[in-house]
Amino acid sequence: MLVVTWSTDGAGNCVVLDGQPYVYARTTAGEFVLPAACPHRGGPLHLAALRPGTTRLVCPWHERATSVTRAVRAGVPAVRCGRRVTAVFDLPDSTPFTVEYRPLSDDLVGGRA
Ligand code: FES
Repeated sequence: MLVVTWSTDGAGNCVVLDGQPYVYARTTAGEFVLPAACPHRGGPLHLAALRPGTTRLVCPWHERATSVTRAVRAGVPAVRCGRRVTAVFDLPDSTPFTVEYRPLSDDLVGGRA
């Protein structure tokens, strides 16, 4: 198991493991580690918005929706402490990773404008 700690916002708010970027998302429906590349065609889920009145996160490329509730329940185990998040990935602890920056949509930073 690989344990990684990174920032929830600003520079270094994205960890890239095995080519897959992850960010920490704070939505009105819950907080969770979000794979930032859409499983459909790799679209930027870090720019996704919540479908109004639902807990569905909509990819900006082809508008496929993902359940936030399911992501919170079944996602990457993680805990946030202040502006840092520590997550446990089902990867060998020798897996190389980089820490980068991804802009986040308003809906992924707690709905703040
Ligand atoms: S890339 Fe996200 S819906 Fe197609």
